[in-house]
Amino acid sequence: MRDQALEVLISEDEIRERVAALAERISSDYAQANDLLLVGVLRGAFIFLADLARLLTVPHKIDFISLSSYERGDRPTGAVRLLLDLRSEIEGRDILIVEDIVDTGHTLEYLKQSLSARRPASLKTCALTQKPARHEVPVEIDYLGFEIPDVWVVGYGLDFEDRFRTLPHIAVIDPTSG
Ligand code: IMP
Repeated sequence: MRDQALEVLISEDEIRERVAALAERISSDYAQANDLLLVGVLRGAFIFLADLARLLTVPHKIDFISLSSYERGDRPTGAVRLLLDLRSEIEGRDILIVEDIVDTGHTLEYLKQSLSARRPASLKTCALTQKPARHEVPVEIDYLGFEIPDVWVVGYGLDFEDRFRTLPHIAVIDPTSG
C-alpha cells in the first residue's frame, strides 16, 4: 500500500494550528508550575510530543513510557502491560501524560492509575486524537486535539504495523486491504 493512496483526515496545517493552540493553553495553565514533567507514551506520541514541547513557554522536562495491549488473536483484551518505565521519580511533581490516540481508553486508564499511585502533585492528560465511539471505559482527557470517527488512522506518529509514522498529516487506512 503506497502512502499517496491514503485519504487525508487531518491536514498538516490543521495539526500545526491545533498543536499550537494546545501548547498555548497548557503554557497558560502551568504558568505557576515549577516542576512540569511531560510523559510521552511510546511509540506513537513521539512526533506530537516533540512539536508540542517545543511550543511550550513554561519550563518542563520530558520522559517516556511504553505500554502494550495484550491481544488474543488480533483483538485487544483490554489488559495493558508496561514495556518500559519512566526514568524519573514523579512524586510531588506536575505530570502531563501525552498520548497519540485514545481508542478503547484502557491504555490511558491503566496509565493514570499506575502513575497516580506514585503520588504526583497533579496528573493530567493530553491526547492528539480520540475515538469516542470506541471507548470501553470512561475517558477524561484534559487537553484534546481532535475527535475522530471509528477508523484506523496513520501518520504524525501513528502507525499501521509500524509503517506510515512519518506522514506529515493524519490519514485513514483500511487495515484489511493490501
Ligand atoms: P486504547 O485502546 O485506548 O488502549 O489504545 C491502545 C493503542 O492502540 C493506542 O495507544 C495506539 O497505539 C493504538 N491505536 C488505536 N487506534 C489506533 C489507530 O487508529 N491508529 C494507530 N494506532 C491506534
